[in-house]
Amino acid sequence: MRTFCMIAAGLLAGLSLPAEAQDAAAGRKVFTGSCAVCHGTKPGEKKMGPSLFGVVGRKAGSAEGFRFSPALTKDGRKWNPKSLDAFLANPRKEIPGTRMAYAGLRNAEQRKALLAYLATLK
Ligand code: HEC
Repeated sequence: MRTFCMIAAGLLAGLSLPAEAQDAAAGRKVFTGSCAVCHGTKPGEKKMGPSLFGVVGRKAGSAEGFRFSPALTKDGRKWNPKSLDAFLANPRKEIPGTRMAYAGLRNAEQRKALLAYLATLK
């Protein structure tokens, strides 16, 4: 009985993950499916795009060792949940001239989850 109670408590704890952790888990899947071909998540990892390690809080176009387009460097906005949300919804409309060849993630729920995941990359 005691063992049973411990297992049940463990299961309940697993089920009541904070909403943010659930979002981050869902966002990780979105990232793997839509972003990981071009973006790494480790510091300095270079693919076609810059590493997104520590992206939340840094200035646009400032990742070390990556050659950004003039459009992104000149823009220089600070990446926070709001600016990232706008950029990821429609990159080329938000920063005309960006070299990021990605049409945009139109699903707001998926963007929210993705942002929760990006915030864990630090
Ligand atoms: C086809 C490759 C490709 C895909 C797919 C892609 N990106 Fe990018 N991304 C790039 C490139 C290249 C840049 C640099 C753009 C520039 O210099 O104008 C970039 C830039 C960025 C930046 C700005 C980084 C900085 O340090 O300023 C963010 C944030 C970003 N991408 C997030 C994402 C996310 C999240 C996804 C998935 C939804 C994604 N990207 C999908 C290629 C891609």
